[in-house]
Amino acid sequence: MQNKVQYLNYHPDVELARRILEFYPGTPRLYLHSFGCQQNVNDGELLRGVLAGVGFASTDTTEDADLIIFNTCAVREHAEQRVFGNIGALKALKKKNPRLIIAVCGCMVQQADVVEKFRASYPFVDMTFGPNSIDLVPQLLYEKLSGGKRLLCPPNERTDIVEELPAERNSGFKAFLPIMYGCDNFCSYCIVPYVRGRERSRRPADVLREFTALVQQGYKEITLLGQNVNSYGKGLEESVDFSDLLEQLCAVPGDYILRFMTSHPKDATRKLIDTIAAHPEHLAPHLHLPVQSGSDRILKEMNRRYTRAQYLELIGYAREKLPGVTFSSDIIVGFPGETQQDFEETLSMLREVKYMQLFTFIYSKRGGTRAAELPDPTPYEEKAQRIAAIQKQQEELLEPMMQARVGSVQRVLVEGEGRAAGTLAGRMDDNTLVQFALPQGVEAAALTGTFTPVRITGARLSMLTGELA
Ligand code: 5AD
Ligand code: SF4
Repeated sequence: MQNKVQYLNYHPDVELARRILEFYPGTPRLYLHSFGCQQNVNDGELLRGVLAGVGFASTDTTEDADLIIFNTCAVREHAEQRVFGNIGALKALKKKNPRLIIAVCGCMVQQADVVEKFRASYPFVDMTFGPNSIDLVPQLLYEKLSGGKRLLCPPNERTDIVEELPAERNSGFKAFLPIMYGCDNFCSYCIVPYVRGRERSRRPADVLREFTALVQQGYKEITLLGQNVNSYGKGLEESVDFSDLLEQLCAVPGDYILRFMTSHPKDATRKLIDTIAAHPEHLAPHLHLPVQSGSDRILKEMNRRYTRAQYLELIGYAREKLPGVTFSSDIIVGFPGETQQDFEETLSMLREVKYMQLFTFIYSKRGGTRAAELPDPTPYEEKAQRIAAIQKQQEELLEPMMQARVGSVQRVLVEGEGRAAGTLAGRMDDNTLVQFALPQGVEAAALTGTFTPVRITGARLSMLTGELA
């Protein structure tokens, strides 16, 4: 396939930054809030980096901000409603500080009807721009400041990949690293292919360069991001798949753990599992494999392009090759036309796989998707009962799995102080939360961001407890 993606390099424009700063008497302040998935969180870190390059300082209150950015998510209606609510609350601020600029970016404003709603009903929103315009933000901001007019960018289909954007990361030891953008799967319920556009991969050399720099800077957990990392490499000039990329990255020396999400089951291969098996030092024996439903009929309606049997076959192979492997998943209940029988097949699927972690969602209708056209006769209350039943079953399944870990010693990446006083909390290789007592005379800061062996002494549903081993 011919690669039509343009690869660009970001260069900060010093002259543009100077002209922007002329509009402010002192150092302007940015308030930025990201909703939604890790990809969006990473976009927020890049936005913050780009604006720091212009001269913006960050603030965590909207009251003293000169620029407020809501970086939004469109996957479910609930997330969108929260954004409308949060933005509505800013109206009064704008009266107090007429210089304040309010911007909405991210997936929501890649929908024409949403931009129209901001135009018509939220006159105090000054700017909208999509997730593929982060490099253009200084220019947009300057236009807004100098022209005064509202700048509501309509959704766009730009497919350029911009390298060298500066990131201001939220953590000093955990980093996100996007390896691809967009999605071509068109699962029938999902808005993502419409708002994030066609699938395109970063070049392996660019990923490797950024990855190596992160390892050298001391990052301990690096999560590769993509809507479907298993289809990485399609359309690139060189022939490289996701497993090949993992091989290249694992060859970088250092003390780190490499995670990735999301793996679409239809594209997860035995080769991927073999690659994980070959690099236990860097790749955790853990797979996030969103199954969505256990019913073949619903999987077909969802356009997932795998069957229950194919999914279970992959799980079986992973169990064979990766001792102690754990799984996590996403589930949608109440997809249009889901019957009680379909739902029970999802319940039985969860009993077969036994997930360590489950993210459950009630189906949310998204305008423009294929599923939005389907008849959906099941009342919401029934869907709510189904999700409660799933969660209850999951708790029952999880309890013995958590208990089984008591007595083992686990490698934990310490993230900081735990919820209980005098404790530290961190995550095991498979992402399970562990809380353990802070040893006498040790400062929390000394262990934060390091891998620490912890002996597990107790198990609750949401986390394990333990002591330094
Ligand atoms: N309704 C409910 N859940 C959804 N997801 C994606 N689209 C929808 C929708 N329309 C869930 C899927 C996906 C996760 C990120 O969000 O489970 O894996
Ligand atoms: Fe949506 Fe499916 Fe793409 Fe995931 S893989 S973003 S669920 S279309």
